[in-house]
This record gives sequence, structure tokens and C-alpha cells, in this order.
Amino acid sequence: MTVRVPGKVNLQLSVGPLRDDGYHDLVNVFHAVSLFDEVTAVEAATLTVRVEGDSAGLVPLDGDNLAIRAARALAARAGRPYGAELVIRKSIPVAGGMAGGSADAAAALVACDRLWGLGLTQRDLLDIAADLGSDVPFALLGGTAVGTGRGEMLTPLPVRGTFFWVFALADGGLSTPQVYGECDRLREAAGERACWPALSDQLAAALRDGDAPGLGKSLVNDLQPAAIMLRRSLARTLQVGRDRGALGALVSGSGPTCAFLAESAEHALDLSVALKSACRAVVSGYGPVPGAVVV
Ligand code: C5P
Repeated sequence: MTVRVPGKVNLQLSVGPLRDDGYHDLVNVFHAVSLFDEVTAVEAATLTVRVEGDSAGLVPLDGDNLAIRAARALAARAGRPYGAELVIRKSIPVAGGMAGGSADAAAALVACDRLWGLGLTQRDLLDIAADLGSDVPFALLGGTAVGTGRGEMLTPLPVRGTFFWVFALADGGLSTPQVYGECDRLREAAGERACWPALSDQLAAALRDGDAPGLGKSLVNDLQPAAIMLRRSLARTLQVGRDRGALGALVSGSGPTCAFLAESAEHALDLSVALKSACRAVVSGYGPVPGAVVV
């Protein structure tokens, strides 16, 4: 059973106050893009995981692997000690701010549900996904959606047409908790109080109208200053894309991947060439695309 699942870029990541449970209340506009991982679940006596692809060595294979945790949570929910060998083929950057680990977890849920013949509803899978991580439910859903709470409570947003993106991948990852912590630290140092976030009307209108220049102007990521503080080279990467006419440029999620909105597929190619010297690797894609699907 093979499931294909997309990565995401955050079009609006507005970070509210720190909660008692260590999470932040968010308004998080997720947009699924055409960088895909594939997870295959094969019948086996126990639960194991194997990763293929250039970045395979960077993915944990122990209890920290989110796909294994997803399969384990599903088996627990079914009340049976099911097994499976999970094979993950990675294209989404690891620890890159594009929710690759969350995507693999979502794909593992869908693949194992089918393999084990459980027939759970999407609502059931979304509930299990939310316990695994804030970004896992969106990887099941795909498209474009606004996440509230810690990002797990999703409402799909209407989108017209397709947007073209270029992603500048950096060397090494950034730790999501560390980036959130740096965001809190920077706010405190500046004497800023986190306000309660709201969905940007300008962003929602640009998505609804298929207005790429309008979308470019409304992209926002409250984690960006923190990510740049932890990885100074991102400021230059973003500037290279802006200088080349990107409609919008921002750090994706907690970074370090930088996302650039292009005017067209041709412009994306032009941006890709310009960005090659300013980062480790460049990939282009489009969005929105569907969430985890059996192939
Ligand atoms: O939910 P997930 O495990 O992906 O979150 C990873 C970390 O990111 C959390 O432990 C927390 O430090 C931070 N986070 C947060 N607020 C959110 C989502 C994540 O502070 N809404």
C-alpha cells in the first residue's frame, strides 16, 4: 500500500501567546505544494521503518520517527498488535520547515489503515493525527487551509488557480521548538506582547481571487526573525529572490527552507537559476495539491 503526501509552505504564520502546555496559539495558513514523499506499508510481523532518498541518513529510525509513531497509534486505536514495514521515499526536505516528518506520519496513517483493513473515517484519522503533531492533520487534508489552536483545527480556504513556488533548501535543519523559543525571546527582549492572531483578509481575498501579486504582498511569518537570528544566511537568500522579482519571499514555517512566489512557471525557472548560488539546492513546485492519497 503506497501513499503519496505533499509538503507545505505557510502563507500566514501568526504566532500568538505561549500557552500553559508549551504550545502557541496560531493562525496558520497551510498550503500543500508539489514536493512529495511516498510511504509504502508492507505486511510484516512487527513495525519497522526504512528511509530511501538523498536525505535518508538525516531521518531518525528509532522511536522518534513520526511515521512509526503514527502506525503505533493506529494499531493502539484498533486494539491489535499489527505490524508493517514502512518504506519512506523522501523528497520533502528533512527538518526544513515544510512538515516532511508530519507528512510521513499522515501517509503512514492512511497506508496502514488500508493495509490493516481498518476503514477508519477521515475524522478518526484527523483525531489521531492531531495527537501526533500540530502539522499532521493538514498533511491528511492538503489543499489550502487555516489552522487555529496549535495549528491542528483546520478550515479549508477557497483558492482559485495554481500558484508557482521556488524553494531554496539550506544545509542542515532548524529545530522547531528552538525557533519558537527564539521568537519568544526576541519578543521579550523588544518588550513586545504577543497579540491574538487573526486570519488576514487580504491573504484570504488573494487566494480566493487567484491573485498572485496580492498573495505575494500578504505572505507573513512571525517565526522568520527568529529563524534568521538562528541562521543569518537566510536573510541573503531571501534578498536574492526579492531582487529577482519574486512576488513574495519568506521562510517556510520554522525554516530553514525559504519559499519564493513566482509570477509563472517561467519566472520560477528564472528564480531557480538566480537562487542556486545562494543556498544548498533549489526545487520548484506548485500549489495547492491534495493531501495524502493512495497511489
Ligand atoms: O506539534 P509539534 O510536535 O509539531 O510541535 C513541535 C514543537 O513546536 C512544540 O514542542 C513547540 O515547541 C512548538 N510549537 C509551538 N506552538 C505550536 C506548534 C508547535 O510552540 N502551535
